[in-house]
Amino acid sequence: MDRRCSNRSEIALTAHLFDAVYRLIAQRGPGWYRDQHQEPRNAMTDLLTVEGLRTVFHTDAGEIAAVDGVDLSLAPGRTLGIVGESGCGKSVLSLSIMRLVPPPGRIAAGRIVFQGQNLADLPPAEMRAIRGRRIAMIFQEPMTSLNPAFTAGDQIVEAMRAHDRIASAASLRARAIAALDRVRIPAAARRFDEYPHQMSGGMRQRVMIAMALSCAPDLLIADEPTTALDVTVQAQILDLLRSLQQQTGMAILLITHDLGIVAEMADVVAVMYAGRVVERASGPDIFDDPQHPYTLGLLGSIPKIDEDRDRLLAIEGTVPPPFDLPLGCRFHPRCVFAEPACAASDPALREIAPGHLAACRLAPVENAPA
Ligand SMILES: Nc1ncnc2c1ncn2[C@@H]1O[C@H](COP(=O)(O)OP(=O)(O)OP(=O)(O)O)[C@@H](O)[C@H]1O
Ligand code: SF4
Ligand SMILES: [Mg+2]
Repeated sequence: MDRRCSNRSEIALTAHLFDAVYRLIAQRGPGWYRDQHQEPRNAMTDLLTVEGLRTVFHTDAGEIAAVDGVDLSLAPGRTLGIVGESGCGKSVLSLSIMRLVPPPGRIAAGRIVFQGQNLADLPPAEMRAIRGRRIAMIFQEPMTSLNPAFTAGDQIVEAMRAHDRIASAASLRARAIAALDRVRIPAAARRFDEYPHQMSGGMRQRVMIAMALSCAPDLLIADEPTTALDVTVQAQILDLLRSLQQQTGMAILLITHDLGIVAEMADVVAVMYAGRVVERASGPDIFDDPQHPYTLGLLGSIPKIDEDRDRLLAIEGTVPPPFDLPLGCRFHPRCVFAEPACAASDPALREIAPGHLAACRLAPVENAPA
């Protein structure tokens, strides 16, 4: 990347930032990420394609776009990681795909094509039939999905009954116990009759995953599924999701603010900033060859085992709210590479190498004429 910094402190910060990224790569060896995740580009027909999605909220400050022109795609059986800081639009994006944006929010533009159907246009009854059955969602906090007044087993049975009205109570119970067993809940038959408050956070999260997977969805949307859990349980849940994906072939849209989790899980990564995707590429390309300064900043802030947390590289400032977006490149007030032209024009997301897109005017285009 062409680096043109305007003053000494920017140069020092830039050097520090690159140093942090190179240390990460050096520590784990060249190609450390590529070795774990080989993504065959365009290998399969997409299961989900999001095109020009714009989701707005009507507020006192006027209409704001929480998601503002997002394009994405996800193939069957693969994991797409959506990463970005708090407030960048990850949850609104996932709720848009589920058509669950709370009023006064609405999808104002774009298409969400899932298995050939545009969900953005689908009548509510048809969308209800897809939700839970072909697309399921799990959230950060299981209690937002679990009802404290019903046992874990009854809630899984209800989720199954919503899509299978002819199965007997006995067979639904047996299937629900099998679902609890599949998410590695010990003594599943006994846990079936327990209430959420009788379970640990990790156990509740497993129940929610069992509920989400009870109808064998083709797509699982997981919005910060492990943020509320301690690191050991977090690793168990991620491992569980991976093995369930291998068994069922479902695709996963994994939303997180944590690039470390994305590194473990994702085949393809979309980095979001202020309602937009600013970089999108295969996992190996994002981790070995990041091109957007925001991605570089996020990578520089991944905690390393032998490093003091206080010394982590942080990107200065915060994501601007949708009602107060800067002109030009939305990242320019925080970007260590910014130059005057960055405040004047808003860079489009463009392909800079096969399958690698970035929205930065300085990102070099592969094989471009000199
Ligand atoms: N109901 C709402 N009304 C108005 N604005 C909203 C509403 N829900 C979300 N927003 C705004 O949309 C933007 C994106 O929010 P979103 O919840 O998608 O962020 P996020 O990336 O999921 O953040 P986090 O990592 O904290 O979960 C934020 O600026 C938020 O304030
Ligand atoms: S276009 Fe944006 S991201 Fe790229 S250098 Fe300019 S301010 Fe930074
Ligand atoms: Mg969120």
